[in-house]
Amino acid sequence: MSRIVYVNGDYVPEEEAKVSVFDRGFLMADAVYEVTSVLGGKLLDFPGHTARLHRSLSELDMGCPVTDEELLAIHRELVVRNGIVDGLIYLQVTRGNPGDRDFVFPDPAVVKPGIVLFTQSKPGLAESPAARTGWRVISIPDIRWGRRDIKTVQLLYPSMGKMMAKKAGVDDAWLVEEGVVTEGTSNNAYIVKDGRIITRNLSNDILHGITRAAVLRFAREAQMTVEERAFTLEEAKGADEAFITSASAFVMPVVEIDGAKLGAGTPGPVATRLREIYLEESRRAAI
Ligand code: PDD
Repeated sequence: MSRIVYVNGDYVPEEEAKVSVFDRGFLMADAVYEVTSVLGGKLLDFPGHTARLHRSLSELDMGCPVTDEELLAIHRELVVRNGIVDGLIYLQVTRGNPGDRDFVFPDPAVVKPGIVLFTQSKPGLAESPAARTGWRVISIPDIRWGRRDIKTVQLLYPSMGKMMAKKAGVDDAWLVEEGVVTEGTSNNAYIVKDGRIITRNLSNDILHGITRAAVLRFAREAQMTVEERAFTLEEAKGADEAFITSASAFVMPVVEIDGAKLGAGTPGPVATRLREIYLEESRRAAI
């Protein structure tokens, strides 16, 4: 079924949506994005995604073509027009179309940023059967650029990582740099050892996950111990359990790393509990 998408001020059927071949998002990956999940027709963690969008834009000296109120209205309008109950909303802001190819940024007074949003319907998103069995992951070298805190559309290496995982017959890849795990291809990574939740500290090395922030807050509120620090791949393989977080997978248990089973090889109690708490609290706060 054809979707209604949003392109630079207009709601149009996807077949009619157009972006210039000179758009810098297309030519240079000069664009940032956000993915917000929808459960029961409502947006999860919307203020967090908006705040991170502004941070990504400001780190790249890019303006935002709409106000926060308009952004919320567009998200809601797309949910309604496309009848989304459970799913995702993808948002991309690009530096725009300077009318030619040039490495130099165009003058922002002349070239306005572009904005595109579309929906992905995923009925039963929160009831994913994978959450009952957990993901298996492999490790691969992290050869991405040094500003992973900016959510750019430069996703070639994460896509290659997903393909390496697919070829290996597993669900995802964890990225490793100098022996320590940074994050998953499109999610933040955690291990649990002796009841302590360990996840990489925030820096330019990882994306500052919106789900991560919420999950760590809920974990601390539930009196769980959280350590924000780097952990090695070896430490991960010897962990009691592991999991990942992202806007699309919420909290997903990880049961195997490079063929090594964690604990019993089934989703652990901490990941399972955090998934329940995250879904319950986020649904309650959804707008
Ligand atoms: N990915 N790390 C990376 C590299 C990511 O791409 C993502 C999100 C995350 C988790 O961030 P959040 O909790 O805010 O979703 C961490 C999105 C879902 C995607 O690319 O589809």
